[in-house]
Amino acid sequence: MCGIVGYAGRRPCKPIILDGLRRLEYRGYDSAGIVLIEGDGLQTVRSVGNLDALFAAAGETSSKATVGLGHTRWATHGRPSHENAHPHDDCTGRVSIVVNGIVENYKELRAELTARGHEFKSETDAEVVAHLIEEHVDEGLTAAVCAAARALQGHHAFCAVSADEPGAVVGTRNQCPLVVGVGDGEMFFASAIPAFMAHTRTVIVLEDGDVVTLHADGAEFCDVAGAPLVREETVVPWDDAAAEKGGYETFMLKEIHEQPAALRDTLAGRLLEDGTVDLSEVGIGDEMLRRLRRIFIVACGTSYHAGLIVSYAIEQLARVPVQIDVASEFRYREPVFDPDTLVIGITQSGETADTLAAMRLAREAGSPVLAICNVMGSQATREADYVLYTRAGLEIGVAATKTHTSQVAALLLLALRLAWARGARTEDELKRLGHELRAVPELVQQLLERDTAVSAIAQRYHDERFFLYLGRGMGFAVCLEGALKLKEISYIPTEAYAAGEMKHGPIALLDKESPVVVVADDGPVFPKLVSNIEEVRARGADVIAVATDGNEVIGELSRDVLWVPKCDHHVAPILTVVPLQLLAYHIAGIKGLNVDQPRNLAKTVTVE
Ligand code: AGP
Repeated sequence: MCGIVGYAGRRPCKPIILDGLRRLEYRGYDSAGIVLIEGDGLQTVRSVGNLDALFAAAGETSSKATVGLGHTRWATHGRPSHENAHPHDDCTGRVSIVVNGIVENYKELRAELTARGHEFKSETDAEVVAHLIEEHVDEGLTAAVCAAARALQGHHAFCAVSADEPGAVVGTRNQCPLVVGVGDGEMFFASAIPAFMAHTRTVIVLEDGDVVTLHADGAEFCDVAGAPLVREETVVPWDDAAAEKGGYETFMLKEIHEQPAALRDTLAGRLLEDGTVDLSEVGIGDEMLRRLRRIFIVACGTSYHAGLIVSYAIEQLARVPVQIDVASEFRYREPVFDPDTLVIGITQSGETADTLAAMRLAREAGSPVLAICNVMGSQATREADYVLYTRAGLEIGVAATKTHTSQVAALLLLALRLAWARGARTEDELKRLGHELRAVPELVQQLLERDTAVSAIAQRYHDERFFLYLGRGMGFAVCLEGALKLKEISYIPTEAYAAGEMKHGPIALLDKESPVVVVADDGPVFPKLVSNIEEVRARGADVIAVATDGNEVIGELSRDVLWVPKCDHHVAPILTVVPLQLLAYHIAGIKGLNVDQPRNLAKTVTVE
């Protein structure tokens, strides 16, 4: 969580840093701040709330500063307040820092520093970094950052400036993101590349333990012991426009509409014209796929839902047992690993703390680990044995949409390849499913053109106080995702249940006031679901069904239907979730809520 921006160059940097923060605001938005090296001192502006408050406060002063730092915060230690907002300075006011992550040993460090005479102004864990640097800054800012980094435990990235070295910004990372942007006579630090994409696409991705000193003319790299390092530049093939809304009202809506392209890109070169799958880029050979005795899937939130959807497909198609767990449970339940168990960590950001910890645990215990990830060079991709990238592009809306459907598509490729390698289904059958998957991007495009129908249903139901979601099999997993989307952006309580479980408790919730969303694809359990719908109707509740075109049974049983194009039930979850994304989007919109930045949430959860 938290976004960091740093600049060392020749241009006045205040607007550059503020613009960078705007592009990172999805990482946290409960307070923000900026520090600039002005003349021979530091000028700091901090504010509580989202960036508008900082823009208003910072706008009151003019600045010629060409070196500075910015921060947007998602609170972990210390409530959102002016004192706890970054940047934090040392006792002299000559050193200032911004931090992302958690300093796990901050209590011990704070006690030691206090005993040595340091005075703290905030409740944060981060402030110890400023005081640690203060103790060594006479040796130079780089040496002081190295010393501070050596003292810290936990996962963090931080940057520092000193009024005594007015041309430099020094940064370091340990299991939290920090990238360097290489401009023409200017250098950038950021938690994510979009922060400086308007200025350069040449980047240097840092390794854990790298300490980097930026000046207008370049960067020097060393490790935390001060030994010099060499790091390579790469050019990212992204378009700056990707970081903008591209004419849509919100990032979330833009990203929902980008799903056909994201799916096409994710399948490209992997799902071949004849319907077969080539995943040789991943490096897992057929021999290993044949040897597997079990698969563990670990993930959080929406990524977990993608894993749950495809756990059904892997077992049904490839006949490999799959166990799936949320990463925060998995990492503490002492799972049994072995070399023939493949552990799949699904994480769009590649930075989710619990998922990373679960993946590490598996690797240390000798199981091979595959990351399904959207962000190149992220922590998950560096630590995994194998990586299968989704190619959804940058996702800024906190509510995951295009990355979710891309994860399902990537995992279905894996399921098909696994089934092929193990001879679990006939080649003709697998090719037929491959063709079904190839058709999906176009079907999602058609589905998005039916948005008017979804928005009409949202108008009818936006005032409801509770929604129950029911489904079976993969449809149940889609319900979990649909219910999460609605609760996280509209704040309406939702519950998602396996429809067969309804009689064991949730049926007590049903009355005329509570609409029930039913995901009814044409899978083998459809007849069972029809009975469940009858049970709902008998209690007077309105049924909003998601069903495939031409399904007359559903048409008759439901008050409203969100129709999706016909397809095989294994690929249906990529379609049936789309109207649920849109339903949540429209209901939140009618309520006037900020769907891109729902309260209490951050896009990347880098804390436990
Ligand atoms: C869903 O809309 C959320 N953004 C959240 O549940 C998210 O999927 C979860 O935090 C996992 O993130 P990751 O995929 O980056 O690991």
